[in-house]
Amino acid sequence: MRDRWRAPFHLSVLMCAGLLSCKSDSTSAPSPTYPEKDHAAEAARLLGTPDWYRHAVFYEIDVRSFSDSNGDGIGDLQGVRSKLPYLKDLGVDALWLMPIMPSPFKDSGYDVADYDAIAKEYGTLADFDALLSDAHAQGIRVFMDLVLNHTSDQHAWFQDSKTSKTNPHADYYVWSDTAGRSDVGCGTYGPQFGSSAWTLAPERNQYYFHRFYPGQPDLNYKSPDVVAATLAAAKFWMDRNVDGFRCDVIALLVETATGCDMVPDTVAYIKKLRALLDGYPNRAMVAESTNFTTTAAYYGSGSDMFSMAFDFGFGYLWGGVMKSTSAADVAKPFVNAQQYPKGAQEALVIGSHDVARAYTTANHVQSRWRRAALLTLTMPGTPFIYYGDELGLRPGTQVIVDGRDTARTPMLWDASPNHGFSTVAPWIAYGAEADTINVDVEKNDPTSDYVFYKQLLALRRGREAFGTGTLKVVAADDPSILYFERASGDETYVVVMSMDESDTHTGTIPGVSLPGDAQRLFGDATLTRNGVDASVTINAASYGIFRVR
Ligand code: GLC
Repeated sequence: MRDRWRAPFHLSVLMCAGLLSCKSDSTSAPSPTYPEKDHAAEAARLLGTPDWYRHAVFYEIDVRSFSDSNGDGIGDLQGVRSKLPYLKDLGVDALWLMPIMPSPFKDSGYDVADYDAIAKEYGTLADFDALLSDAHAQGIRVFMDLVLNHTSDQHAWFQDSKTSKTNPHADYYVWSDTAGRSDVGCGTYGPQFGSSAWTLAPERNQYYFHRFYPGQPDLNYKSPDVVAATLAAAKFWMDRNVDGFRCDVIALLVETATGCDMVPDTVAYIKKLRALLDGYPNRAMVAESTNFTTTAAYYGSGSDMFSMAFDFGFGYLWGGVMKSTSAADVAKPFVNAQQYPKGAQEALVIGSHDVARAYTTANHVQSRWRRAALLTLTMPGTPFIYYGDELGLRPGTQVIVDGRDTARTPMLWDASPNHGFSTVAPWIAYGAEADTINVDVEKNDPTSDYVFYKQLLALRRGREAFGTGTLKVVAADDPSILYFERASGDETYVVVMSMDESDTHTGTIPGVSLPGDAQRLFGDATLTRNGVDASVTINAASYGIFRVR
């Protein structure tokens, strides 16, 4: 189902982004205009500060599925490099590359066999350096995925560790004579994948602990050697000039008798990692959070742990949240996040390699995934767009590693037989509707998801209020109308959204005294002065973004 398209209103963002002249459209009441800053210069300024990650838009790439440069059906680093102009044009400021280190691929690269190298199917260290330097030249930063909780069972450390109780890596992993250990509390409540968290290594005649697949033995962070070796791995990539890390299941590093989630020794390790990053200018890191209610545990003082942590409370549960007609329910996680220390902010997603495509989560209702995306791009937090979500990429059906593969299908660049991804059959089959849901088609369709994303990214760019501005949510007299303000300095933006997908609503926003009518930048809602209140009218499942004085 395609969303209704109201071209004149959506185009207003292009006007005000300086691409067309900034005039109100003929089908609505005259809209005032306010003096505009030079948003390109503002973007350069904001992205040049240590707070850059709070203003940036990130883009998660599954390198295997993005672009294949050498015709083996597998995406690679040179492929990503060749698509930097696409990413730049879309308005992306930073990339998160899913694991690119050598791996037997039992968990799609989250089973690292060597921390200091590049998987040969993705290229070489020289290819990585070239990608990094081209990205930097285009103003795009690059985060790597750092998988520290476990390695692959093919890693040299494990290959050595499993041979005896006395080798140099003997205590690099969590070993036990039985399938359980009293000081590894989480070992008794089971692994994330499979039926037991303990697997026997016959050579050593002991069991090793693995929170994930058996091919992913957990490292033993009670060993100072493991702490030193993994920090050295982080330093290896810092020295190559990466801009930061996405830290995989970082809360799970250390196990105790009573818990395995963010125990004090894990916090201490994270502080060491942060201190390492702070030795380089303008680096940042984002945590994969294991807590869906709060990310408070990840930030420390705001400057000694993570810069960002994923808000999965909205991020993974938005399918249910967006079905609700209660604006207050939708706003709640974002309002709660305002208590975090200055400098720390949540990372906002509607998709990732671990969950279903937004199309599926939204139950195929386009207006639902678009409104969810709009929230991630306007609420406080750093948006992370999962590759292909800017197209509304449809899921695949082929499973190679596990069920999550349905959201890891190749990027679709055009309608040719291999969709501009490769010259041969891809490593995993393309998703559905590939002839119409692709970059080439959507670029030329003003009603497409691609154009929707591109316009929103242009609107956000260089407007400080959306990065570090304050958030004020005001309850409307109609509970299905979401109203919030983002403000910074002399600029205030208002976002309104209808949580009702069936009817048009008109509501009063009490006590919001607009100094004048609002200037609509995006969407088709109206926002007008109504004495000491404001009045909002929104079509079903629609929205508006306004500049107000
Ligand atoms: C994280 C990754 C996921 C992986 C798991 C184990 O949750 O996002 O893909 O399977 O860690 O590394």
